[in-house]
Amino acid sequence: MSTIYSSHKLATSRLEQRTTPTIYIVGSFITKFGELWEKSLRDLIEEAVEGTIKDAELDPKDIEAVFVGNMAANQFEGQSHLGALVSTLLPHHPPAMRIEGACASGSLAMIVAEDSLLSGRYKTVLVIGAEKMTDVDASHATDILAGAADLEKEQRSTFPGLYALLAQAHMKEFGTTSKQLAKIAVKNHHNALHNPKAQFHKEITVEQVLHSPMVADPLHLLDCSPISDGASAVVLSTKKHHSTISIAGIGHGQDTLSLAERKSLTEFQATQQAAQQAYAQAGIQPKQIQAAELHDCFTIAEIFAVEDLGFCKKGHGGKYIQKTTHELNPSGGLKACGHPVGATGVKQIAYLYEQMKLGRWNTTLAHNVGGSGATAVVHILKQTKE
Ligand code: COA
Repeated sequence: MSTIYSSHKLATSRLEQRTTPTIYIVGSFITKFGELWEKSLRDLIEEAVEGTIKDAELDPKDIEAVFVGNMAANQFEGQSHLGALVSTLLPHHPPAMRIEGACASGSLAMIVAEDSLLSGRYKTVLVIGAEKMTDVDASHATDILAGAADLEKEQRSTFPGLYALLAQAHMKEFGTTSKQLAKIAVKNHHNALHNPKAQFHKEITVEQVLHSPMVADPLHLLDCSPISDGASAVVLSTKKHHSTISIAGIGHGQDTLSLAERKSLTEFQATQQAAQQAYAQAGIQPKQIQAAELHDCFTIAEIFAVEDLGFCKKGHGGKYIQKTTHELNPSGGLKACGHPVGATGVKQIAYLYEQMKLGRWNTTLAHNVGGSGATAVVHILKQTKE
């Protein structure tokens, strides 16, 4: 049996296993995102844990295990062992662990939690993503974030620098323009006006983006997601409770850590793999997605996302974003809602769940990327019939 065939069989059998039981989201909470100097990491975690359990209308003792997504609390705050920290907040101290995958830490924590439910080990678990980034200065934060790139091969490149390379490649190959990138920032800042938890409530114009300071050519300050504090949590359960919203598709893709070893600088194969798995499991096509929370850490990343998720053809992202049938980054995305890195993947799902509960959409997608595309996770949420 060839390696390719056996890995295909393995992937298929994992998807099959995942068809039962159904995982429901039964509660959620998102703290305010922003520069929250008055709050500690523990405060944010406590707020998210309490808020989520209350929203789920559960007794804290119903939580059988806790999964924490966090990139670098040990470097930002000097605090490690976050699993134990969160478990301490619950009266019965359930088993807990921290999961790290750079900016995809939150959605990887979701995947580990989901696998624990699918295996039958637990029936109800809490997933929390948290990061407190603003207690160090911006250059120190940039340095900590740079640890998610390939230390040896990329020699401490910054993330604005790496995404600028990707933007240059996309511009060269497909004619994508700075104005198209700016329009993504404008859209996401506009969307954030409707999200009380967002870091920025400030309408911006294309001209302001194009005239904001250059961070790494062609990315201006207003093409970048900010440095943020925040936490978000969800309760997942294989018991329905009162929920009608389930996780219908899960995908996890992986690529090389360094950009130099990639086959292409104009696509994220990890996103493509994750999307294929999630669509196959949910049994839907990209056009059936009504709204998507996308990983727009830099405006160019939203263009990669719509192309790699199959919302439009490769190279057409710049034009497509201006005339899309999908609602993209309704929360304001990472760009304007904020990007406390470990919290983002959980926040995307919590936000979609909260809006779906209000009846805004039936089928949604969350896309979370680690680093410059080495890790990608896609979740599809569906309103289930009563
Ligand atoms: N979007 C919009 N406004 C922003 C912003 C952003 N990304 N970053 C900062 N601002 C605003 C601040 O609120 C502040 O406004 P004010 O003067 O009205 O108070 C102003 O711009 C200056 O803020 P400052 O904190 O001095 O910015 P900075 O130069 O230290 O940092 C960036 C700006 C873009 C370099 C920083 O946000 C950054 O590094 N972002 C990328 C983070 C990252 O790499 N994440 C991981 C992704 S993979």
